Amino acid sequence: GPMRVSTGSLPPAETVRALVREAWEHFAPVTDGHVADYIPALAEADPSLFGLCIAGVDGRSFALGDADHAFSIQSMSKPFVFALVCEALGGGIARERVGVNATGLPFNSVMAIELNAERTMNPMVNAGAIATTSLVPGANIEAKWAFIREGLSRFAGRELAMDERVYTSEAATNQRNQGIARLLHGYGRLYADPDEATELYTRQCALNVTAHDMAVMGATLADGGVNPVTRERVVDADRCQRVLAVMATAGLYEHSGDWLYEVGLPGKSGVAGGIVTIAPGKGGLGVFSPPLDAAGNSVRGQLATKFLSEALGLNLF
Ligand code: DON
Repeated sequence: GPMRVSTGSLPPAETVRALVREAWEHFAPVTDGHVADYIPALAEADPSLFGLCIAGVDGRSFALGDADHAFSIQSMSKPFVFALVCEALGGGIARERVGVNATGLPFNSVMAIELNAERTMNPMVNAGAIATTSLVPGANIEAKWAFIREGLSRFAGRELAMDERVYTSEAATNQRNQGIARLLHGYGRLYADPDEATELYTRQCALNVTAHDMAVMGATLADGGVNPVTRERVVDADRCQRVLAVMATAGLYEHSGDWLYEVGLPGKSGVAGGIVTIAPGKGGLGVFSPPLDAAGNSVRGQLATKFLSEALGLNLF
């Protein structure tokens, strides 16, 4: 379809519906990429699954394909936990303790910690995300877990639950994240017990969502923090601006520059194959397709999002 210039709202419903269908049909045959296998439970994912959903700030949604298939949120949890922590502690404190600059390195980079005197660079990569999770308020681990699970559920507008298989699989194989947490602890850049922080981070990554959930969660950030379906305010509008800025900077890791250049919107990927993208003031887009590129970003997710950003006139620039 033709590229549109960004306007104040999503195009009419029939246009959105037709373009979602066009994106799905166009990219369904793509077979590039490989499902994540460093978390054993994710290696079993069906590479043919492909779900798309757009949720508008008016509460309408347009879903197609496997948009109701449950998969683990993984790194897409990071911006939402950061938003909740900013809300609880104040954005200034969160920024000072975690950072908001790009690393230019893979999501689980230890070198990024060693190369930068600040140690944690931003809440989208594992180091900064584990540091963010270590800032979650609560008297004990279960209170902190409730804060995360209930907060992410408010973004989704429904009760989210953990995928026990993914959690168990990742908890048995997350030595690298345990190492990152300990390294940060050694640098005074972790704000809770390192094992507790890694445990909570692993649980948060194993929360199950659907492409439809991710679209609504994205639409909540697009709507200045109000869930457009439940009408509940989840976070303040100024938090959303900050979270979207850090997503634009680092949401697709070392490919964040290419993403912003091509899509022109803040987005966040997860290794289970999800990508959530936010069109501020307009809505959220959730895509699910397990095969990933070398940076850990869904191949079809990126293609479909780029297509829809152009066709719907969502590019911010
Ligand atoms: O910490 C990990 O390795 C995973 N729980 C999340 C990584 C992830 O989703 C990276 N994304 N594209």
